[in-house]
Amino acid sequence: MASKLFPTATIGALLLSSVLAANLFQFSYPSSSSSSSRDFDGADFGRFEFIPIDGAIGPESYAFDSFGEGPYTGVSDGRIIKWHENQRRWFDFAVTSPNRSRCEGPHDHHQTEHSCGRPLGLKFNRMSGDLYIADAYMGLLVVGPQGGLATRVATQAQEIPFAFLNGLDIDDHTGLVYFTDSSSHYQRRNYLSLILSGEKTGRLMKYDPQIKEVNVLAENLSFPNGVVVSENGDFLLIAETTTCRIIRYWLQTSKAGTYEVFAELPGFPDNIKKSPRGGFWVGIHAKRKWIFKWILSHPLVAKFFLELPFDITEAYTHVSNWRGRGLIMRLSEEGVVLDMVEDESGVNWKAVSEVEEKDGNLWIGSIHKAYAGKFKLNDTNYVTL
Ligand SMILES: *[C@@H]1O[C@H](CO)[C@@H](O)[C@H](O)[C@H]1NC(C)=O
Ligand SMILES: *[C@@H]1O[C@H](CO)[C@@H](O)[C@H](O)[C@H]1NC(C)=O
Ligand SMILES: *[C@@H]1O[C@H](CO)[C@@H](O)[C@H](O)[C@H]1NC(C)=O
Repeated sequence: MASKLFPTATIGALLLSSVLAANLFQFSYPSSSSSSSRDFDGADFGRFEFIPIDGAIGPESYAFDSFGEGPYTGVSDGRIIKWHENQRRWFDFAVTSPNRSRCEGPHDHHQTEHSCGRPLGLKFNRMSGDLYIADAYMGLLVVGPQGGLATRVATQAQEIPFAFLNGLDIDDHTGLVYFTDSSSHYQRRNYLSLILSGEKTGRLMKYDPQIKEVNVLAENLSFPNGVVVSENGDFLLIAETTTCRIIRYWLQTSKAGTYEVFAELPGFPDNIKKSPRGGFWVGIHAKRKWIFKWILSHPLVAKFFLELPFDITEAYTHVSNWRGRGLIMRLSEEGVVLDMVEDESGVNWKAVSEVEEKDGNLWIGSIHKAYAGKFKLNDTNYVTL
């Protein structure tokens, strides 16, 4: 068995590496005339601060509490930690699983995340001070302002269990919680297989804390990821990762209950957040190179990758840790690109999961990095038209 598996695995690994190496042949993205694009070669990164995280990696999403303190972020061992700027250190704030055995310490959290939890989307209810959590494995949870063990409030909708909860936002005016389940089949640790499979079992949902009820707003989505409520609460934007686009779901107006394409992006979007200066920041996990397009448009090739006898997401993670750039974008309320900021070296940010702008800083998250990135904006390091 092993002797048969070995050559297949080797050939598969070689193929995967060559496919990813082919990323060198990049298609450049035609920026729209009204957008500004900045490339950083490293010199500009003087104001980029690396804030290390002890014992875990992957600050995926950030949230600030009702007092503006934080940020809080969920990391690979299942903890939600809080940054204290004065003391310059992280404090443990909450966990999503009661079973913490084998969660902490230096080991591959990949293997334990289904029992330790993997908190992704985070947002505080401004009135109650409660933190709502979309945990990839534990479902939708809430924890009070003092933290501790979070309480599960939903694990399924319409009798279909959540398999991969991901993005979350709260409408500050109504307290309604909007969140996404990226797939009904694939789990977070197999996200690359979810993309390659092209499957569409993702859902957008609403949780009403008053009546404790979950409603499905949209289904058959291809890896719905981040979600954000618009400034006036008229619509939601959802990052649809596999299709590299942002979808607008109408909550109000005559179009309520329908959705449409809001923006097409040059890469795979992760979370989407409001910028206090207007518009929305989108973290791009990776650019969509021609090779990805080619694989996705050839189901047999995609199937071949899906059937390789090793964990393709893990293999991809190892390769992408060595190479690749980091890209973040800001879109206007009309879906026009306002800013595109690329870290060509990938040293500062890469595999970006989220950009949270607060008090002139961008907090940049990544599922691969062992630190939170804090990038100080000033008048000269970005251009907004
Ligand atoms: C903004 O950043 C640039 C590039 O690092 C630096 O030269 C400049 O002094 C900064 N400006 C302010 C106002 O901090
Ligand atoms: C806690 O997690 C460990 C390791 O994942 C597992 O072996 C154990 O059965 C779990 N205990 C309970 C009570 O779920
Ligand atoms: C979603 O897909 C399923 C299966 O293909 C189909 O039965 C259902 O009608 C679809 N739902 C919507 C809202 O399009």
